Amino acid sequence: MSLKLSVIIPTFNELDNLDEIVKRLELILNKVSWEVIFVDDDSPDGTASKAKEISLSDSRVRCIKRIGRRGLSSACVEGILSSSAPYVAVMDADLQHDEGILPLMLHALENEKYELAVGTRYMEGGGVGDWEESRKQTSQIATIISQKILGVSLSDPMSGFFMIKRESFDLCVYRLSNMGFKILLDIFVSSPKKLVFKEIPFQFRQRNAGESKLDQRVIWDYFLLLVDKTIGQYIPTKLVSFACIGAMGVGVHLMVLGFVLKILQQPFAWAQSTAVILAMIFNFNLNNILTYRDQKLTGFKFYTGLLKFMLACSVGALANVGVASVIYKDYGYWIFSGMAGVLVGVVWNYVATSLIVWPKKINK
Ligand code: GDD
Ligand code: MN
Repeated sequence: MSLKLSVIIPTFNELDNLDEIVKRLELILNKVSWEVIFVDDDSPDGTASKAKEISLSDSRVRCIKRIGRRGLSSACVEGILSSSAPYVAVMDADLQHDEGILPLMLHALENEKYELAVGTRYMEGGGVGDWEESRKQTSQIATIISQKILGVSLSDPMSGFFMIKRESFDLCVYRLSNMGFKILLDIFVSSPKKLVFKEIPFQFRQRNAGESKLDQRVIWDYFLLLVDKTIGQYIPTKLVSFACIGAMGVGVHLMVLGFVLKILQQPFAWAQSTAVILAMIFNFNLNNILTYRDQKLTGFKFYTGLLKFMLACSVGALANVGVASVIYKDYGYWIFSGMAGVLVGVVWNYVATSLIVWPKKINK
């Protein structure tokens, strides 16, 4: 029987879920030829070793271990690319996705001319179980935004549970943003032709073992995905992230300045210097967590990174003032001159820090 279905399961610290998910796949997929590919980002709990151990006695189980990398979307993409099956599914390792609908998904793609089958929580018969109110609301807002801004017609574009035909995936793979958590949405909006999809309801279950990796940062990732899919062809997404954080940094600067000047009654130069330093620390931190979360600096590298960041940004500040002064001298429009200075400063800071603080190499 030739291989029909690859199930791609991204994992990070899912050690105690592997045996169970493989057992369940085996039960439900007993009529098809399938394999499962765990894509693990070198989980500290040893998920990859466990997966490889299972694969020794079951050749349908494979594991890709990525070193110095993080990211659910990119893990799924690499898993899909590593397989040859004509149909590929993506699901969580933690049993939250009801494997019972996998045969229905496969049937839809194989026999009903659909290219994509999506497990949806927001249709008759589906549900999110007992989620907290806040998570329900966030999920709904994100859904509405992608429906309105990206024109997505899926009832559950945030779903992480779907199956797609290989040829449909191959058509969109070069255009994927590859960022963050929202792989289905990324595939859907990156496809050069509108994907013919079927939605199949399922009940989102409680996580089995371990804990969720979804945190506040996915909101920023989601924002960046939206940016990338709207203006991404003109401006690098990381630059947008960097500039937005820079704008927040201006807020921090002004607050600190006001506080030291008015409340602590210190001289202006002192207040301004404190504000500059704190705003830089704030910006460095946020960029490290959000813009460069995939290359996050920790431990000793955090401090050397901060130092390099401050140096680079000081040069940026000089460039900012220099350019603004020249333009102001020649043309005299203060707002225009100021904005030009800021633009040069931001672009300089972005380029310089991306080269010296967060260079593209494996940091481990
Ligand atoms: N390789 C890798 N790298 N895997 C990861 C990473 C990562 O950085 N982060 C998370 N994973 C794996 C987890 O181990 C799990 O198997 C799967 O990706 C989903 O992560 P969860 O931590 O279980 O996320 P969730 O259940 O809170 O979120 C689910 O619902 C969202 C919608 O509400 C997921 O299905 C999301 O995909 C979905 O968008
Ligand atoms: Mn999950």
